[in-house]
Amino acid sequence: MLPDGDVVVIGAGAAGLAAAAFLRRLDPSRRVTLLDGAARPGAKILISGGSRCNVTNVSVSERDFCGGKPAVIRRVLRGFPVAETIDWFASLGVSLHEEAHGKLFPDTNRSRDVLDALLREADASGAVLKAGTRVTGLTRTAGGFSIETAAGSLTAAAVILATGGQSIPKSGSDGAGLELARRLGHTIVPTTPALVPLLVDHRSALQGVAHDVELSIWTEGARTARLSGALLWTHFGVSGPVVLDASRHWLRARLEQRAVRMTVNLRPGDNFESLERFWTSTAAERPRASLASAAARLLPASIGATILAGTRLDPQMPLAHFTRGDRRRLVQALLEWPLAVTASRGYDYAEATAGGVALEEIDPGSMASRRCDGLYLIGEMLDVDGRIGGFNFQWAWASARVAARALASRR
Ligand code: FDA
Repeated sequence: MLPDGDVVVIGAGAAGLAAAAFLRRLDPSRRVTLLDGAARPGAKILISGGSRCNVTNVSVSERDFCGGKPAVIRRVLRGFPVAETIDWFASLGVSLHEEAHGKLFPDTNRSRDVLDALLREADASGAVLKAGTRVTGLTRTAGGFSIETAAGSLTAAAVILATGGQSIPKSGSDGAGLELARRLGHTIVPTTPALVPLLVDHRSALQGVAHDVELSIWTEGARTARLSGALLWTHFGVSGPVVLDASRHWLRARLEQRAVRMTVNLRPGDNFESLERFWTSTAAERPRASLASAAARLLPASIGATILAGTRLDPQMPLAHFTRGDRRRLVQALLEWPLAVTASRGYDYAEATAGGVALEEIDPGSMASRRCDGLYLIGEMLDVDGRIGGFNFQWAWASARVAARALASRR
C-alpha cells in the first residue's frame, strides 16, 4: 500500500500542480498527494507558447472559450481573476510581461522557469508528488475513494481529477482520465482536437508564406464563425493562429456530420465594392499593366499567382482586356477563396481538446462533481476549450483555485 492522503490529485499538469499547491496553502492540515503517470510531469507547460509559455492573457472572459455554457465558464473564471494569476506567479518568482494580443509571458521567456516555479511551490507547500504513477482505476467507496495504480492502491477522502484532454498523448494526457470520470457517472461530450493545423487537399505553391486573412466557416450554407489573424501555408495544408482557432469549429461541424466548408478572405478589411473599385480604377490608370502586376499591389506575389491560376486568368493579360465578368470572379475569389480542408493533423499536433466532461455536471462554485460526492474536476478534461492566447492556462489556474478553495472549506 502507498501512504494515503486526505486529498489525492490525479494529474500533475498545470491544473493539478496549481490545485495541490493552492489547497496546501489554504489548508495546511490537509495531506495532499499528487499522482502523475509521466516520469517528468509538466511536459505541456514546457512545450507551450513555443517553449516560452503564454501563462495567461491581460483580458480573459467566457467569450474566449467554446464548449459548455458561457455562464458556467464565467463563474469559474471569476473565481481567480487574471490580476490574481499575475500576483500569484510574481509570488513564485515568475514576473510576466505583455506581448501582442494581450498575451502574458514570463520575463525570462522560458517555460522551464514556469514549470520549475510550480514544482517548487507544490513541494514547498507540502504536497507530495509521485511521478511515474499512472492511475488505472478510481472507485467510490463508503469512506471516499479507492485509487488503483501500477505501484499499488491508495485511498482518499476526496479526489481532484486533473488528467487533461487528449492532445499530445505521449505527454501522458491520452484521455484515460475521461474514462475514469465516465465510470464515476459523468457524461463525456465527444472529443475532437482543437487548436490544430489542418490538412488541405491540394499541394500548394505557397508553402512557407504567411499573411493576415479572415477565415470563415460555413455550416450548412450559413456563416457560423469568422476569425481574423495570420495564416501560414505549409507542406500539409494550413496552420498559423487563425487556422488553429478555426480548427475546432470545422472539426465540431464534421463530428456532428454537418456540411462544412472554409473560405479565406485574402484581403481582410476589403469588401466586394472596395475591391471592384480597386480593379476599375487601376485599369483606368494603367490599362497596359498586367493582371499579375496589379494583383501584386494587393497580395504577396506568390499568392496573387496562385489565385490567378486558380481562377484560370492569364497573369499577363493587360487590364484593358479584363472583362467585367472576370473581374467579379476574381474579386469573389479574393474574398472567399475556398480551402479544401480534409482533416486535421490530429491529437499529436493539437494544442487542446474540445469536448470532455459535461460542464453542467460540475458545480462552478466549487468544481465539485454533481454525479459523485467528493470528486472535483478541473482543467482541460472539462468540456471547455480556449482560443490561442493564454486562455487555456487561465482556465487551468482558475478551475484549480476554485476547487482548492472549496476543498479547504469542506469538512
Ligand atoms: P495537462 O494535459 O497539462 O496535464 C494532465 C496531466 O495528467 C499530465 O501530466 C498527464 O501525465 C496526467 N495524467 C493523465 N492521465 C493520467 C492517469 N491516468 N494517471 C496519472 N496521471 C495522468 N495554453 C495556453 O494557455 N498557453 C500556451 O502558450 C499554450 N501552448 C500550448 C502548446 C502546445 C504544444 C500544447 C500541446 C498546448 C498548449 N497550451 C497552451 C494548452 C495547455 O498546455 C493546456 O490547456 C494545459 O496544459 C491543460 O492543463 P491540464 O493540467 O488540465 O492538463
